[in-house]
Amino acid sequence: MKPTASPKTYRVKSFGCQMNVYDGERMAELLAEKGITPAPEGEDADLVVLNTCHIREKAAEKVYSDIGRLVKAGDERGQKPLIAVAGCVAQAEGEEIMARAPAVSMVVGPQAYHRLPDMLDKAVRGERATDTDMPPIAKFDALPERRKIGPTAFLTVQEGCDKFCTYCVVPYTRGAEISRPFSDLVTEAHKLVEAGAREITLLGQNVSAWSGENETGHTVGLAGLIRTLARIDGLERIRYTTSHPADMDDDLIAAHGDTPKLMPYLHLPVQSGNDRVLRAMNRSHTAESYLRLLERFRAARPDLALSGDFIVGFPGETEAEFEDTLKIVDEVRYAQAFSFKYSPRPGTPAASMDGQVAKEVMDERLQRLQAALNRDQLAFNEASVGKTCTVLVERKGKHPGQWLGKTPWLQSAWFEADVAIGDLVEVELLEAGPNSLAARLREPVTA
Ligand code: 5AD
Ligand code: SF4
Repeated sequence: MKPTASPKTYRVKSFGCQMNVYDGERMAELLAEKGITPAPEGEDADLVVLNTCHIREKAAEKVYSDIGRLVKAGDERGQKPLIAVAGCVAQAEGEEIMARAPAVSMVVGPQAYHRLPDMLDKAVRGERATDTDMPPIAKFDALPERRKIGPTAFLTVQEGCDKFCTYCVVPYTRGAEISRPFSDLVTEAHKLVEAGAREITLLGQNVSAWSGENETGHTVGLAGLIRTLARIDGLERIRYTTSHPADMDDDLIAAHGDTPKLMPYLHLPVQSGNDRVLRAMNRSHTAESYLRLLERFRAARPDLALSGDFIVGFPGETEAEFEDTLKIVDEVRYAQAFSFKYSPRPGTPAASMDGQVAKEVMDERLQRLQAALNRDQLAFNEASVGKTCTVLVERKGKHPGQWLGKTPWLQSAWFEADVAIGDLVEVELLEAGPNSLAARLREPVTA
């Protein structure tokens, strides 16, 4: 087999959350700076970055099976690919990966990937390297400028989490909460808009905990940042995700009412509708306080679409406690939601709690919960029929002349028109399905 030469093509495979998608884009930019180009669709890459997620089970096993597949493809091709494992599995199990998978030459954690180019130089010389340091912020300073991007872009404003929900690995893999500085974010947002973005989603594991000093030296929260970004010409839409109910301040609620560029959509995980379970999860809110918080958001922005995350089968969850989750779903009527079976994560308190719930019970509860959430998602889409709204055109549809864009409420809308990617157009919503709506163009808002 040929020895590993300098790679000419790369592929970054990102799993899990949107922060990983952002990190994956930034790693791709670093590789592009070294003159490495994306491998054409369907072709093997010389360098593969597996940008992993550790939030739920089987993540590590998935990494090993992916590595196995890459090695096999390399054998068939007669050239070993260089393999880097990045992301949260790299952070949590880096040394084990190095020991178990000789085909991996680079292991790089989510706070250290700005050093990927140096590691790559070493890997080409046949040296293996692990970097799971957690220097706060350093990575952002070391990354190259944003290049041309699509109409929607992610901007990581905050990383890490101090909440320590008892089921969650994030505080261990991504570390303590840190906020990127205000001026860096404003600069990066300008760059994103210059590079073609018309919508920016501000990202953070606990994004509403962001705080910083604004241009006049005042400490501001996420709402202050949003209001400043809203003044950028050419930036039409702002979103943010993910939030914890404990960090939603009055100003953020007010921003939903007074900042038109902030889209009427809120992803606010509740996890469970039962107070004993919420306490065991260390969530620091009750079902009631969560509902009251939503009322305040809805008062500021009556057409707000709500989204949430749920876990079924947390250790000790009884049938009656699970039914409280169904009750809160009935009350909130989410426009969209994500629901998961509890997955014990090594090193988290919940993993060693008594009363682990049987898989069949979790399966059954998840099915019932998802039936309720799907019912509400369809109902939300149906209630949108007849509305006129803006849509940001994101991509072409399957049929000629068909386009897909997102409504302010993050629904996918399909329509036929003579438009281009990045156009912001006004449509009428005509017909609802469970995951999208059919629409008709009314008029272009801006070209
Ligand atoms: N098991 C199941 N779901 C989990 N989540 C986080 N940790 C776990 C776990 N151990 C879910 C939560 C969180 C979302 C990102 O993933 O619902 O909000
Ligand atoms: Fe994990 Fe809880 Fe932090 Fe979300 S708030 S990242 S669930 S610890």
